[in-house]
Amino acid sequence: MLKKQLREIILDLYHDESKHSVYQSMPNFVQEALDIEVKVNQDWRGDVERYHYLIKHLDFSNKIVMDIGANTGYFSLNIANHFAKNVIAYEPNENHGKIITMLAKFFELNNLKTLYEGVDLDKLSTLEKTDILLHFNVMHHAGHDFDSNYVKNISDLENYAINYLKQLREKAKTIVYQMGYNWGGNKSTPIFSAIDGIQMIEGVERICQKSGWEIDSIGLSKREEEKIVYDYYEYPIKSEDLKFLSEKQEGLSEFYKRPIFILSNTI
Ligand SMILES: C[S@@+](CC[C@H](N)C(=O)[O-])C[C@H]1O[C@@H](n2cnc3c(N)ncnc32)[C@H](O)[C@@H]1O
Repeated sequence: MLKKQLREIILDLYHDESKHSVYQSMPNFVQEALDIEVKVNQDWRGDVERYHYLIKHLDFSNKIVMDIGANTGYFSLNIANHFAKNVIAYEPNENHGKIITMLAKFFELNNLKTLYEGVDLDKLSTLEKTDILLHFNVMHHAGHDFDSNYVKNISDLENYAINYLKQLREKAKTIVYQMGYNWGGNKSTPIFSAIDGIQMIEGVERICQKSGWEIDSIGLSKREEEKIVYDYYEYPIKSEDLKFLSEKQEGLSEFYKRPIFILSNTI
């Protein structure tokens, strides 16, 4: 397929006006080769710095990686292109999944497989085993985007997450986990009473204790000159580091106040 033709199709699919469209950026190698540009305000919601954080603190070389909720493939494409042995991307929005498939074909990324499916609780037992599993910003949509039979109320969410992560112990050695503060992304149904990182950390601690995962480290963002970057903290985080968190994160969006947890399987 000609580059121009591909660029037009990709941009059409990208702007499909669905709930999670215009969410991720395009990897640099895609932008450069196809002369394609998408505008995501990285000051409000970002993937570039999340990706830098990931590749600095996890070794993806020759690993089997799964991306649950891969969206338009920013992480899957980058990791398949630069590191991994195999990447399996799950994305239920077919338009967005097709972007990943078409770009993988164009760039001959034969190590990247995209499935246009969500990963609901009942699907977990069928997943392939992986080394590193990305679970980024999907869990707080349970009950809205999927599994509404299991998460009928916000009060069901914590036990659902425990159950979900417990089952993932059979499937992954490491999980990179991030979730939002509001159920279904709706501010009128907050999961925690403050958007300050502290309660989120306590909540994820509870989920991990009960599901058999260990928190290895936590990434917390801060503004640094013109950029927002994530700093790496070994777990447990020292109380003096947490004390200054709200100061460091003052003025940052809800998205950037979502910590990035690296979890390891205790099996
Ligand atoms: C908020 S976006 C997060 C995208 C990406 N993981 C990130 O953090 O940049 C949530 C994504 O999960 C997808 N999704 C919805 N239900 C899902 C399910 N049951 N399993 C996997 N992904 C799902 C959506 O289509 C969307 O692309």
